[in-house]
Amino acid sequence: MPDLLANTAGGDYQILIRKGALAKTGEIASGVCTGRRACVVSDENVWPLYGNTVQTSLEVAGFTVSNALVPAGEASKSMDKLMYLYECFNQAGINRADLIVALGGGVIGDLAGFAAATWLRGVPLVQIPTTLLAQVDSSIGGKTAIDLPFGKNLAGAFYQPQAVIMDPSVLLSLSRGQMADGMAEVIKYGLIRDDNLFEQIESKAYDLEWVLERCVRTKITVVSRDERDTGERMLLNFGHTIGHAIEKVTAFSRYTHGEAVAIGMVAAARVGEFLGETAPGTSKRIIKVLESYQLPVATDLSLDDILPAIASDKKNVGSRLYFVLIKETGQAYLKPMKKSELTDVLREVWQDA
Ligand code: GLY
Repeated sequence: MPDLLANTAGGDYQILIRKGALAKTGEIASGVCTGRRACVVSDENVWPLYGNTVQTSLEVAGFTVSNALVPAGEASKSMDKLMYLYECFNQAGINRADLIVALGGGVIGDLAGFAAATWLRGVPLVQIPTTLLAQVDSSIGGKTAIDLPFGKNLAGAFYQPQAVIMDPSVLLSLSRGQMADGMAEVIKYGLIRDDNLFEQIESKAYDLEWVLERCVRTKITVVSRDERDTGERMLLNFGHTIGHAIEKVTAFSRYTHGEAVAIGMVAAARVGEFLGETAPGTSKRIIKVLESYQLPVATDLSLDDILPAIASDKKNVGSRLYFVLIKETGQAYLKPMKKSELTDVLREVWQDA
């Protein structure tokens, strides 16, 4: 597969999707920084699986390698762990010419990315995503953040990596639940931009490398036109307005991100069908494909449980929001709506959810 190139206002970078790609880390790293110290940020589950391959590859390329390991899980996207990373960078003498490597899923990518963005006002970063969700979505596009006691992803930066290295074979070590989590985002890409991808996922006749490439191509096209998330990038939010609200009111513990987004995509398709803007039958088709990947399509939460969280979404502008709808599979667009208008429609469709 040819390497892909992301062109963003924050910089251009290579995305390598290839079996065995982790062993190329040193070679790629040599081309993106002039220093020869690298700190690999990872978690305690991922490091034992892939740390050695990445470290050896960097050492063969001439790097002095240190690591900073945090517990797996969202709780590590914290001020405490950010400070711990700064301590590790300080101890290792990481300067602006050196390199931070994020080896792990979305939590590691966000945490290490934010640390790289802010240490010495910015140090080169290479992302090595090891979950499907991180490979198709969070490792690309430069969103980095930590959570604060009053909300998720509240302190962050747009900070593009110098390269993204993804090895499809690492996905073989994921649990069924972790794969389903990422598959919800894959289905989202199909629904917003890529009918061919959606059909392949529906028929289950796909090759995983091909799926990664399709998703990555969509993501880089979108973020290269709208790095700062003020227009087209918001299309990536299909199913997320409701999904984020469901995650928030269940304290990020009952549903994975992908599960919440799956419920949100069904609800969004029903909103579009109710408004006459989404082709009839689309929600049924989405339900069928989500269920085939054991993703939930409804919740027992009442609409009144989640409305306050929808109303306080950080992407809202005053009394209005941009809700992502699809005309049909593969064709998403932004619909500016008043919060009250969305609430009225959700009241009509929610009982079906
Ligand atoms: N995950 C959505 C975005 O990168 O904008």
